[in-house]
Amino acid sequence: MCSQRIIAVFTLITVECIRASPPNFVLLFADDLGYGDLGCFGHPSSLTPNLDRLAANGLRFTDFYVTSPVCSPSRAALLTGRYQTRSGIYPGVLYPGSKGGLPLNETTIAEVLKSQGYVTAMVGKWHLGVGPNGTYLPTRQGFDNYLGIPYSHDQGPCQNLNCFPPDVKCFGHCDQGVVTVPVFFGEMIEQQPADFLQLEKAYSDFASQFIHVAVQNKLPFFLYYPSHHTHYPQYAGAEYAGMSPRGPFGDALMEFDGSVGKILQTLEEAGVINNTLIFFTGDNGPELMRKSRGGNAGLLKCGKGTTYDGGMREPAIAYWPGFIQPGVTRALSSSLDILPTFAKLAGASLPEVELDGVDMTNVLFNLGPSKRKTMFFYPTFPSEKYGVFAVRWKNYKAHYYTQGAAHSETTPDKDCSVLSILKHYDPPLLFDLESDPSENYNLSGPEWDSVRQQIQAIKEQFEASVVFGESEIAKGIDPALEPCCNPNCSPKPQCCHCTVMDADTASITIT
Ligand SMILES: *[C@@H]1O[C@H](CO)[C@@H](O)[C@H](O)[C@H]1NC(C)=O
Ligand SMILES: *[C@@H]1O[C@H](CO)[C@@H](O)[C@H](O)[C@H]1NC(C)=O
Ligand SMILES: *[C@@H]1O[C@H](CO)[C@@H](O)[C@H](O)[C@H]1NC(C)=O
Ligand SMILES: *[C@@H]1O[C@H](CO)[C@@H](O)[C@H](O)[C@H]1NC(C)=O
Repeated sequence: MCSQRIIAVFTLITVECIRASPPNFVLLFADDLGYGDLGCFGHPSSLTPNLDRLAANGLRFTDFYVTSPVCSPSRAALLTGRYQTRSGIYPGVLYPGSKGGLPLNETTIAEVLKSQGYVTAMVGKWHLGVGPNGTYLPTRQGFDNYLGIPYSHDQGPCQNLNCFPPDVKCFGHCDQGVVTVPVFFGEMIEQQPADFLQLEKAYSDFASQFIHVAVQNKLPFFLYYPSHHTHYPQYAGAEYAGMSPRGPFGDALMEFDGSVGKILQTLEEAGVINNTLIFFTGDNGPELMRKSRGGNAGLLKCGKGTTYDGGMREPAIAYWPGFIQPGVTRALSSSLDILPTFAKLAGASLPEVELDGVDMTNVLFNLGPSKRKTMFFYPTFPSEKYGVFAVRWKNYKAHYYTQGAAHSETTPDKDCSVLSILKHYDPPLLFDLESDPSENYNLSGPEWDSVRQQIQAIKEQFEASVVFGESEIAKGIDPALEPCCNPNCSPKPQCCHCTVMDADTASITIT
């Protein structure tokens, strides 16, 4: 056993020591947020005081990657520690009427932690399927509690989505001809369409309540908080609308940051701030096609939808006062590593599957080098024929294929545009991301042959290990599966309309 006092001496920290008192986990996840979007990652006009506080007193990651430049696959990999090609969450993303979802035999972080007696909750955007009778909802994948929209908030007709100033329609279009966006509580629809201006507040209230109930019951907890911010179309409640110098994107980001602040405050009030590991990152790069209403990849090339670093390298922060020493790490790390890391800290065994994540406690506690040496970049539409588009090995990144994307349209860089068609490179383009993080200068000349050969060998070895799971997204869409609060009503989708929030929304499940 270790006393808190001994643990607080950084040099004496050991993972066994931490296990004596397993921490709570809060996993914060932003949507379509770029590498350059936070104040603490260099944005001049974003107001993110709470995330900046986490970064100043925690560990900021410069080289943190997700596994996909779009939403559903990135989230599947986050929650399973496996590339999405294994779990079948490809190509593209899931829709409200999708027949498939994250297969139930995949083991999520929530399931791993539940085996150790953790109570679990998810608040926000799922995007890993709903399916017939809610087959794929978070409640079926280890989350005791769920409040949220199970997909993107533009996957409905944007009704009730008014932006600042009030009653002004949001910029752009959402999906038409499908049901309006529902808010689920557990497996029941509580509200349809969602009231976006109240949504983030409902989320952060629910998160706080969950933390209080878990602490009162003396149970370790896992809170997964994937916000809809800062995905298009941006919105913000009254407290934040018009408050940011950065416009609607800045307001949405500021509202998310405000929720982070409320969660921090709750952890302090509940007396568990020193026993909770908070991890923050985002699902994929910025949606540059929204111009100044989209996010910003900072000095990285392109954004969402591409396998350039702007599409898949994300801001990340780990915070745990007294345990994680404040600083910046350049260690190569990934959303894949969160499951094995949380498992290690909770003393849970790993799922018996081909896992792509590695335990990153070495990086968190400054105990040694990162176990991760490589990162593989799958495009939005992966196929066995093309395999990975790019490979990062140490500080090098080799591109075998590149392709622009509609999501990254409109910047002056032609490579990002959808008009930049699939290109194959033999030999691969090679960049040194330490001296050239913007992927501008192909390393040419025979002196780089050995690096290219080494990466080729790593790529072949990885691809030989990947068995593509049956595509869940290719199972297609059935409009009858779109979630509706009046299941047997007609005519759909208009009749799927419920405005009364059930008073039970407040109750938290702890078993
Ligand atoms: C889940 O089940 C499918 C279908 O039987 C199988 O192909 C897949 O390998 C299983 N996945 C895991 C993680 O066990
Ligand atoms: C959903 O469950 C109900 C009640 O168990 C059943 O009658 C219905 O067939 C199920 N629907 C689907 C699409 O599986
Ligand atoms: C957390 O630890 C700090 C530093 O040891 C201490 O000042 C603070 O009171 C602790 N907070 C709680 C809620 O235990
Ligand atoms: C990149 O450099 C390699 C090695 O010198 C060279 O063979 C290749 O043609 C270059 N690729 C491009 C697109 O310039």
